[in-house]
Amino acid sequence: MRTSFFAAITLVLSACASTPESSGPTATVALRSASGTKISGNLTFVQVGDQVRVTGEITGHTPGVKGFHIHDKGDCSAPDAMSAGGHFNPTKTQHGAPGAGHAGDLGNLVFNESGKATVNLTVRGISVNKNASNGIIGRAVIVHVGTDDFKTDPTGNAGGRGACGVIS
Ligand code: CU
Ligand code: ZN
Repeated sequence: MRTSFFAAITLVLSACASTPESSGPTATVALRSASGTKISGNLTFVQVGDQVRVTGEITGHTPGVKGFHIHDKGDCSAPDAMSAGGHFNPTKTQHGAPGAGHAGDLGNLVFNESGKATVNLTVRGISVNKNASNGIIGRAVIVHVGTDDFKTDPTGNAGGRGACGVIS
């Protein structure tokens, strides 16, 4: 009796705590391989106040630290995904680290020995709201084959485009 009483209280509290986090608009991306890689994955973007939480899983990469960006055009049709254009850059800044460069500069992801990355980021400077000037709906997410150096403008010297998906 005592145990189930406390279990019930815990359930109610955790439900309350998680409600505000999932209240904003949500978008998803299905990443598909480009440039002949085996990379694929799924991501979810959720508006949380003035920030966006990005979660999901990407597999099929080589182990290591790999560049991860939102690109301007939601067009993954080219085999090398160059059709997605440059980094999403509504504020016309130079390339950099997350929060210090283009709005689309999401940094690097760490892929483990199995070539898998678990994504759990909170990002400023972008929006899931369709009509916002920094809105990401209809743009593309790119996973690169190399590491973003947070410095080289405008690409981060992150190498080829290993996966691409349109945010919808
Ligand atoms: Cu990129
Ligand atoms: Zn950039």
